[in-house]
Amino acid sequence: MNETHYQARRQKLLASIEEGVAILSSSPLKIRSNDTEYPYRQNSDFYYLTGFEEANALLVLVKTKEIERSILFVEPYSDEFALWNGARLGVEGAMKRFEVDEVHSILEYPNHIKEILREHIALYFDFHDDSNHLKLAQQSAKELRESRGVKRYIRSFHDVTHWTRSMRLIKSSEEIDKIRYAISLTALAHHEAMKQCQNGLREFELQACMSYIFLSNGAMNEAYGAIVAGGNNANTLHYIDNRDVLKEGDLVLIDAACEWELYASDITRTFPVNGKFTEAQRAVYEKVLDVQLRVIEAMKPDVKRDWLQSYSEELLCQALIDLGILNGEVSTLLEAKAHKKYAPHGIGHWMGLDVHDPCPYVDESGESLAFMAGMVMTIEPGIYIKAEDESVPLKYRGIGIRIEDDILITESGCENLSSMIAKTIEEIEEMCKS
Ligand code: GLY
Ligand code: MN
Ligand code: MN
Repeated sequence: MNETHYQARRQKLLASIEEGVAILSSSPLKIRSNDTEYPYRQNSDFYYLTGFEEANALLVLVKTKEIERSILFVEPYSDEFALWNGARLGVEGAMKRFEVDEVHSILEYPNHIKEILREHIALYFDFHDDSNHLKLAQQSAKELRESRGVKRYIRSFHDVTHWTRSMRLIKSSEEIDKIRYAISLTALAHHEAMKQCQNGLREFELQACMSYIFLSNGAMNEAYGAIVAGGNNANTLHYIDNRDVLKEGDLVLIDAACEWELYASDITRTFPVNGKFTEAQRAVYEKVLDVQLRVIEAMKPDVKRDWLQSYSEELLCQALIDLGILNGEVSTLLEAKAHKKYAPHGIGHWMGLDVHDPCPYVDESGESLAFMAGMVMTIEPGIYIKAEDESVPLKYRGIGIRIEDDILITESGCENLSSMIAKTIEEIEEMCKS
């Protein structure tokens, strides 16, 4: 992605907001232990508008009737920092690289912010931003309001993420390429896990073989904490302990994926530890797969996300009846939410710069959003039957299955971006053998 893409996004944001000043902050550094930090990950909205990955930076957008300006505040270059951590871009480097109107040192920000806000009537920021930079802007706005001779002052606050995240809903072809690349590495990792899996391994050993694939291909970060859940562990939806022994006759559910240039992938596969599905596992797996394929088939422009959710619940409910896990009429069971005991989570979520991309699910009037070409959503039905659930036939107890792919809405329908990852029973058993 070159600088013009980010510039075009800033212009689009400026065109959508009213007169005022927008402030977007980089992510804060977070201490992990004593003086050691967590690996740094840029704030997704800030990155979307700048492509800048350094910490302690600010983007300030200014809009009046006459002018629109983009101002970047960055950490200055320092020899000392360069010695220990590597060189920062600094003010001059940032001025050269970014197509912004001004770049200043972040150390100068307190001297600039009051002048920037003077005579403006609206402040746009992320309501979750609790940085000192933003607090200073709010304080400056308050002081301006109380200053003599100031005719106009900030009198409204707006959540800037309302605009940035609506923009993030539709992915450009460059963004889709990054998602595709993340998925291609994730595909290698899932296939490797299927090949390596055997009775007696620890869950973390499968995690390790996937992490090796990610790192050795340059994907420095996973998109989220890997779930490697053998047997009944799959029934804990966010199981990340990953320390149990994988047992003969059990399934293993792996929900793990990497990030590429900050773009996520999000993939789940469930397969037998010994490479061969039992009859009961096969029965549940085929139902989950059938639901997933039918839901994906229904995805196209103008279909509403809420409708897709209801449709998937109907299909899952019918699947649970077919398996003999629920008894009764679909409509009555849906009404009573009986299926939620075995299929408790939603059918999918937006995916992009964040694995759970925080883009809107409803339009301006609160109606469920209709799909449009360029949107990316995961489709991840699951059926989870706890080992201790005596209301279910014995053969199914302890089975937890989820199948998750990443789907791009296209002009004519949709494309499963992760269709290369083994998914049918035959494909999985074949991959496990190799
Ligand atoms: N891996 C997180 C999710 O599937 O939503
Ligand atoms: Mn997901
Ligand atoms: Mn997932």
